[in-house]
Amino acid sequence: MGRTSVAGVARVGRQSQRSAPGPLPRVADEAIVLVGGQGTRLRPLTANIPKPMLPCAGVPLLSHQLLRLRQAGVRHVVLATSYRPEVFTTYFGDGARLGLRISYVTEVDPLGTGGGIRNAAGWLDPDPEAPVFVLNGDVLSGHDLTGQLAAHAAAGAEVTLHLVRVPDPRAFGCVPTTGSGRVTAFLEKCPDPVSDQINAGCYIFRRGTIEQIPAQRVVSVERDTFPGLLASGATVLGHVDSSYWLDLGTPAAFVQGSADLVRGVLPSVAVPEPGPALLLPGARVAPDAVVDGGTTVGADVTIGAGATVSGSVLLDGCRIGACARVRDSVVGLKARIGERTALTGAVVGDSARVGADNELIVGARVWTDAVIADGAIRFSADC
Ligand code: GDD
Ligand code: MG
Repeated sequence: MGRTSVAGVARVGRQSQRSAPGPLPRVADEAIVLVGGQGTRLRPLTANIPKPMLPCAGVPLLSHQLLRLRQAGVRHVVLATSYRPEVFTTYFGDGARLGLRISYVTEVDPLGTGGGIRNAAGWLDPDPEAPVFVLNGDVLSGHDLTGQLAAHAAAGAEVTLHLVRVPDPRAFGCVPTTGSGRVTAFLEKCPDPVSDQINAGCYIFRRGTIEQIPAQRVVSVERDTFPGLLASGATVLGHVDSSYWLDLGTPAAFVQGSADLVRGVLPSVAVPEPGPALLLPGARVAPDAVVDGGTTVGADVTIGAGATVSGSVLLDGCRIGACARVRDSVVGLKARIGERTALTGAVVGDSARVGADNELIVGARVWTDAVIADGAIRFSADC
């Protein structure tokens, strides 16, 4: 059988095996979710917890995606893990609690996004024509998975990518398309993007196409597989859907995504009663404290008298002192924030202690277990 290799995609002659798309899209009941990254941009929050497992509106970020896959008809999910795999298995187990069957595959050394997909594929139904959802594990999206599947089937595509339009595409994969939606290029993290359409990190792969990714090698689906498929003339479809979409890879995006779930901006079955704040069991909020803007107050958190907390994520067991002001920030597990301290766009790691009368502003990261003395840091002259 003829076999050629183009930029990370080993192509095997197989066109004759394809069946014409039927009138109804075939159900995609299997998915791979890529969850092996180290979440470096979210450190120190990811020092012990992989990014997809960070609590987002009270449950791991990944739960929201898994529930959406379940709603779209998926029944079996393979989690492609690498960093801290035990955190996933301990929480999700066999998946039955979510109405799913979950399999786990672990890359001892990370294989990259393409290598991770290829590595996980052995756990899927081998039918080469089966459509398979493949998701990045750090995205919140309200897009229509079934609509994407219908477009994939109608085009007889090898891969169909969910695309969104963003004002600044440079941090993403830029994906220009023709008028009929065919992808013409895939330009990952391009400093000079040719389109405002970006890869939203949700693909439908024809199962047999995954098999063409080289096995047991580091492969980037964005830099190797997609450009390789395009160079070989494969049908790669872009499906633009402008519903809610956010990559939660940075602290600012993480608090935004969590707050949007709590407020119901993005509905999730894991947040049955949206509102200004979500209080988990054991949370104690002083009567005159104000908590709003989609804040999540984790289990056993204490918020002192006169404090204000807005648009933030307070992880389990942390304490916010009296008259503290916390805005658009993350406070880690069992961390302590002193009286009158102000946090704006800050990240405080697990078990860290920020003394009284400090002021931390956008971009500040207090490391796990760090201790900041009373009145040690300010960005303004007033006190
Ligand atoms: N199994 C496995 N192995 N998973 C990995 C690996 C790996 O070696 N490397 C990264 N991942 C997982 C991460 O855990 C994450 O869920 C997903 O792959 C994407 O990695 P990110 O590190 O979050 O990538 P990004 O946000 O910079 O860019 C990607 O997502 C954008 C959309 O959010 C790319 O796919 C871009 O093209 C895209 O626009
Ligand atoms: Mg990301």
